[in-house]
Amino acid sequence: MAKKMHFKGIIFDLDGVIVSTDEYHYQAWKEVSDEYGIYFDYEINERLRGVSRMESVDIIMEKAERHYTEKEKTDFATRKNNVYRRLLSGLSSRDILPGVESALDLLAQRGVLLAIGSSSKNTPVILERIGLAERFQAISDGNHISKSKPDPEVFLLAANRLKLAPEDCLVVEDAVAGVTAALRAGMAVLAVGSASQDKRATFRALDLSFSDLIKFF
Ligand code: BG6
Ligand code: MG
Repeated sequence: MAKKMHFKGIIFDLDGVIVSTDEYHYQAWKEVSDEYGIYFDYEINERLRGVSRMESVDIIMEKAERHYTEKEKTDFATRKNNVYRRLLSGLSSRDILPGVESALDLLAQRGVLLAIGSSSKNTPVILERIGLAERFQAISDGNHISKSKPDPEVFLLAANRLKLAPEDCLVVEDAVAGVTAALRAGMAVLAVGSASQDKRATFRALDLSFSDLIKFF
């Protein structure tokens, strides 16, 4: 079957697609893991891409020397988030990834509906800090869903909020879990960055260059 090439709306993942928060996540998890004496490195951080906060704790604790209770895991996640929020106060429009602003401008001019579909509960604060909060017609994030990527819930909610059918939406994702979520939602997905080698993706690109995006609308 030929790939559908034209869409009415686009749902962007946030972290790693719109804005570079990788290093902030890494530093926050590293600081708290060091406090607890749990090994953490960039390779483990890479496995947390697109994964919810509590599921991230389970991945990090695979390296722990003892069992942690659910309460201890929640405390660990809260401490990480406190450090992360402190680091996010340094976030600005300089952290917007290359190509994003010009792509958003052109898509908006063409009347394409724009949404965010992110696992992050920090989505509102991140969008405010980078000055893009007003650019999206719908936001679907970690505060609105009960099942994180690879579950399709976050993208189905975004499409619903745009009043579009799944097949009219293109998702842009940098996480393998997010590519799975988009496909399970019945949406086409453009995989970028870390997911750009994922052969299941409908389309693939190294980064979000505006010429790559505009051809879909
Ligand atoms: C995703 C990130 O966007 O959000 C993950 O790729 C992160 O690394 C997840 O764990 C949840 O983020 P937050 O901000 O709710 O802790
Ligand atoms: Mg991402």
